[in-house]
Amino acid sequence: MIIAIDGPAASGKGTLARRLAAHYGLPHLDTGLLYRAVGARCLAAGTLDDEAASAQAARELDVDALDPDALRTAALGEAASVVAARPQVRAALLALQHRFAARPGGAVLDGRDIGTVICPGAEAKLFVTAAPQVRAERRFRELAGRGEPVTFEAVLADIHKRDARDSGRAAAPLVMAPDAVLLDTSSLDIPAAFAAALAVVEARRAGR
Ligand code: CDP
Repeated sequence: MIIAIDGPAASGKGTLARRLAAHYGLPHLDTGLLYRAVGARCLAAGTLDDEAASAQAARELDVDALDPDALRTAALGEAASVVAARPQVRAALLALQHRFAARPGGAVLDGRDIGTVICPGAEAKLFVTAAPQVRAERRFRELAGRGEPVTFEAVLADIHKRDARDSGRAAAPLVMAPDAVLLDTSSLDIPAAFAAALAVVEARRAGR
């Protein structure tokens, strides 16, 4: 079974993806980390504005060497969104995502284009969202908890900017697949959101 989870920044999709993967004993790929890693390499090399260099960085990406903790900073979220708008970068990351999704038994993938581009045939698709204020509060708490010197206002501005860039780009924009189920987690805590997500997946498994 392939479970595809998409949604905007800090919507809770990563937490749900990890929990669903643990529940069903499936491997999980946080595809945002791929774009974050490409953004990190470009920032370090001073080539964030260079499409060819970012595509080369994507082709050279070593998935086994990703360091999630180091990649989940606010600056790398922004850099990821910049490189992710480029078709050459997305094309370079396609094969490895397809390989991951083709694992025997299935997989859980989360990102922006899983249900639309990467795994259009996924058995269960969730589009996880929440109000921008709520997402900004969650992300602010997460980043501040990690010791990042951020303000709530800056996090909210970043969320708005990334929402606009991710949804407005021509290449694999953030859009809900027609057969995805919308899950708004604005007023749900993690256990409630997980229960709702599980109910969606179980319904799909039962053919409903
Ligand atoms: O955790 P958060 O939702 O803030 O971000 P993420 O999932 O790590 O993704 C970072 C950025 O990568 C997003 O803003 C997107 O621009 C891009 N991304 C994408 O274009 N396609 C994906 N499948 C995953 C991420």
